[in-house]
Amino acid sequence: MKTSVMISKNIHQRAFDIFKEHNILTSVLKTKESLMDECQKHQALICMLSDTIDESFLKANSHLKAIANYAVGYNNIDLAYCKKLKIPVSNTPDVLTNATAELAFSLLLACSRHLKSALHNAELGQWKAWEPLGFLGRELHGQTLGVIGFGRIGQAFAKLCHQAFNMKVVYTAKTEKDFTWAQRVKHAELMQNSDIISLHCPLNQDTYKLLNKQSFQMMQKQPIVINTARGEVIDQEALVEALQENQIYAAGLDVTTPEPLPREHPLYLAPNVLITPHIGSATESARSAMAEICAKNIIAGLRGQALPQSLY
Ligand code: DGY
Repeated sequence: MKTSVMISKNIHQRAFDIFKEHNILTSVLKTKESLMDECQKHQALICMLSDTIDESFLKANSHLKAIANYAVGYNNIDLAYCKKLKIPVSNTPDVLTNATAELAFSLLLACSRHLKSALHNAELGQWKAWEPLGFLGRELHGQTLGVIGFGRIGQAFAKLCHQAFNMKVVYTAKTEKDFTWAQRVKHAELMQNSDIISLHCPLNQDTYKLLNKQSFQMMQKQPIVINTARGEVIDQEALVEALQENQIYAAGLDVTTPEPLPREHPLYLAPNVLITPHIGSATESARSAMAEICAKNIIAGLRGQALPQSLY
């Protein structure tokens, strides 16, 4: 039997080219098929952040020789259970750092200058004259940026803000980093003093609804909130309330709960909320590199070798 890899969605061609070079068959899950059932016919899996790889999935697919997550975040995978079943798992660190940081930066710029309303105004023919008081936004230069989660992406985003706008950077993280331009502070201090709060932490038990009603109440500078991490890091009901209470200036969200966010959700109606459909890593170069990493990790797993980007 020829070795074959199940891929839960069509991904960048780079992965298919590598598999072809190695004479490995691939199969992309069709819309009506069940990933859990189809996986049983294959020796390895490339899954997406939207696939739930939980205990029941793993029990049904304990034969898998490797699972490669086409994302850096891996909250969709029960890693402890993979470990128990000795199924190696990888993710795609580093290669999407700049792409995601740049998307966070775009959302920040768009939020600070009311781009959503301004674009609608022009497109809908409401632009009748130059308005001295129209769309007054906030300048970012010299503001205080609070970064929650100071790993690769948090640092890259903070560096962009620091270098472009001379922002003062504060952050919360488990460990202190050795940067002269960024200072580790407590959660409450970050909430109180930040003009911008950007989330870059992984989703886990410690970060679930980390930004909640209490956090919003602590915010004293009516910050702009940016989330390119995971939707569940924000208590979304508390966010809606915070917007109604003007506790925050605007929100730029690349991630929501659930995904996709239903069309009728109140967040879409807020003029100061920008929502993008989880496109943090969506650049040609990042997605190509992610595909390459996944393919190489799967090949290592199929050969019984340690995965280069192993998660445990
Ligand atoms: C990831 O890969 O985990 C990110 O969510 C990309 O946006």
